[in-house]
Amino acid sequence: MDRFKIAVIGAGDMGGNHVRGWISAGHHVVSVTDTDKIRADKLALRYNVGAVYGDYKEAIDDPQVDIVSVCLPLVLHAPVTVYAAGRGKHIFCEKPLASSREAAEDMQRAVELAGVRFGIGFQRNFSEGVGLVRQWADEGRFGSPLVFSSDLMQEVRPKIAMHDARGNQGPVVDACCHYFLMWQTVFGSKPKKVYASGRILGKDRPEIAHFEELAVDTAVITVEYESGDIGTMNVSWGLAKKSPIRGRPDRIYGPKGGAEGPFNSFGRSTVSFELYEGSSTATVTVEQPDLFSKQFTIFAEAVREGKPAPVGFRQGLDMLRLSHAVLESAKTGNIVHLD
Ligand SMILES: NC(=O)c1ccc[n+]([C@@H]2O[C@H](COP(=O)([O-])OP(=O)(O)OC[C@H]3O[C@@H](n4cnc5c(N)ncnc54)[C@H](O)[C@@H]3O)[C@@H](O)[C@H]2O)c1
Repeated sequence: MDRFKIAVIGAGDMGGNHVRGWISAGHHVVSVTDTDKIRADKLALRYNVGAVYGDYKEAIDDPQVDIVSVCLPLVLHAPVTVYAAGRGKHIFCEKPLASSREAAEDMQRAVELAGVRFGIGFQRNFSEGVGLVRQWADEGRFGSPLVFSSDLMQEVRPKIAMHDARGNQGPVVDACCHYFLMWQTVFGSKPKKVYASGRILGKDRPEIAHFEELAVDTAVITVEYESGDIGTMNVSWGLAKKSPIRGRPDRIYGPKGGAEGPFNSFGRSTVSFELYEGSSTATVTVEQPDLFSKQFTIFAEAVREGKPAPVGFRQGLDMLRLSHAVLESAKTGNIVHLD
């Protein structure tokens, strides 16, 4: 097996997961970069990484680097990807793909011109739960059409940049993409139309008052698919501090049965789901591998074999388009057609 040399850019929450995931997938993390030197030093020390940079260009310019792993705020995904592609490096970038369709197209153009591989961090879609529920749906255990209901509830994020409409763009862009990809995977179909309502529950919170424009932090979303299936989601990052309100487990149902559970969860080694068929109930418990290690193993194989990464621009662009359609519907009150 080729052991690739990785530069991880961004030493925050995802930076830590990437360093650990690349190492556990058998690769060599050669540097960590962050403008926050203390953070970068701490992460490098923890995993015995040899070099620390403050400037991503220096890290990417290192001739030994094969793959650049991007764990930065959304607005930086495009410039760092374009720079890395220009230096002939393969890129693995965290989701969401980019802050706009134009920025995403710049990234794709640079990657295609350089002939490098590009992967995106939808690790949650590799979870055992998504695989199982897709299999059950394919086997016709639930019948058709299907309704997939997801729920995500959190207090106003301590990582306040998530609430900046010009930064990470709130949960509709930053978090719902995981659920939209899960629905698309399980339905095996593309979204046809979207309607949504949005609010800013955290609008009076002083810690985010300085942002010029606050992102929608709460939405009720309905997506209809070409297959006739429906995805529906309640999402909020606007709850009170320490609120005990929690998101409910995912639920999928059709005329013959359904299932419930945290299908695309990560960070747990075992996960349980309820499977309902007719009037019967069964609990299904599965072991879950480290999803970061799994996604990097799959991406490294694509790099090694010179083939497109199985999860890349196509999924990134689809999710971005759907998230932006949700925001447009919430803003205008109109149904947004995606075909
Ligand atoms: N796949 C997932 O499940 C998942 C989960 C959380 C976050 N994310 C995504 O990962 C990305 C990063 O999120 P995070 O939670 O790690 O954020 P974070 O704020 O914890 O970390 C980002 C880091 O980037 C650094 N940084 C900012 N500007 C920089 C620059 N110019 N050069 C170098 N470093 C710079 C910051 O100092 C910070 O340490 C986002 O796109 C987010 O949506 C993905």
